[in-house]
Amino acid sequence: MFKKMSTTLSIILLITLILASCSPANPPAETADAAEEAAKQPKNLELTIYAGLMEDHAIMATREFEKQTGVKTNFIRMSSGETLARIRAEKDNMTASIWYGGPVDAYIAAIEDDLLVPYKSPNAANFPDKYKDSDGYWTGIYSGYLGFVLDKEWFEENNYDIPTSWDDLLKPEFKGQIATAHPGSSGTAYTMLATIIQLKGEEAGFDYLQRLNGQIRQYTKSGTAPGRMVGLKEIPIGITFLHDAIKYRKEGFKDIMISAPVEGTGYEIGGVAILRNGPDQEAARMFVDWTLTKEVQELGSVVDSFQFLTNPDAVPPEEAMELKDTKLIDYDFDWAGKNRRELVERFNDVTRTTPPTD
Ligand code: G6P
Repeated sequence: MFKKMSTTLSIILLITLILASCSPANPPAETADAAEEAAKQPKNLELTIYAGLMEDHAIMATREFEKQTGVKTNFIRMSSGETLARIRAEKDNMTASIWYGGPVDAYIAAIEDDLLVPYKSPNAANFPDKYKDSDGYWTGIYSGYLGFVLDKEWFEENNYDIPTSWDDLLKPEFKGQIATAHPGSSGTAYTMLATIIQLKGEEAGFDYLQRLNGQIRQYTKSGTAPGRMVGLKEIPIGITFLHDAIKYRKEGFKDIMISAPVEGTGYEIGGVAILRNGPDQEAARMFVDWTLTKEVQELGSVVDSFQFLTNPDAVPPEEAMELKDTKLIDYDFDWAGKNRRELVERFNDVTRTTPPTD
């Protein structure tokens, strides 16, 4: 009888001990160590990114992220309009999980189509409100100003004044001498289209764009191409983000000169966002956190990316200081994003017809 009782007591004691050792509230030291060790083990995470910033920047960032986190990372570089078209097509079967770089107008257009997942990174907590979507759908990583990139030699040889306003681009001597990207494919060029409409109003704005069309020799796919063309002396005037022109000048195109329209110019906030239905959501959140840090934002200048930065603790590249007095319009990103489809369609219409000759 006594033996039976003592066996029962031993069993109860044993069960109590086992239960206590499993209690999550109070794990024994070895279990905690094991959990910590498991968390440290690489989880074989992978990440595919649609990158809208320059290719050398995307290569550097993906390599660095992979090195620091062990997440196997690859990217495809596309202009904003291309990315938007691709994620619309891939809506239910997304290849990538991150959209990284390029003006947020297109991100706002993507929210309208429910293509992004909100994520408020703790690392953006102290960012100014204008650099993050209030619902967390996108966060700003940099800011860049639009302007003119010019071939100094061509202007000197011809003794022409450099253009300092949007209207200057319509001068007869500049006919056929200008390159810009197309707003359907390029975020840079869409920033130009939305800037002109915000500056001049819709009717006068499209009238201007139709006249400008008569001055354009070539529309390119990507926003940086006109800057490179000026550097190569293929064309004397390009419309582009000015930090890209500074990059090309620093990398060897010595005759590159820049100018910004005195009446005011538009600017971009380059974004990062998580794609809905992307296969790598955990790695995507890690990437967003990572790219918003001061250290990572400052890394851009290593590859001559000279945008202003959104993290208030990050030191902007010295090269950007050349642009600090640029007069900016009060660019309405929300309006620009929500009206993107209609504005691009109308741009296609007006540039198909013959521009006025006066
Ligand atoms: C370059 C600039 C970025 C900009 C991007 C837009 O990479 O450095 O600041 O966001 O162009 O590219 P896109 O081809 O869409 O105009």
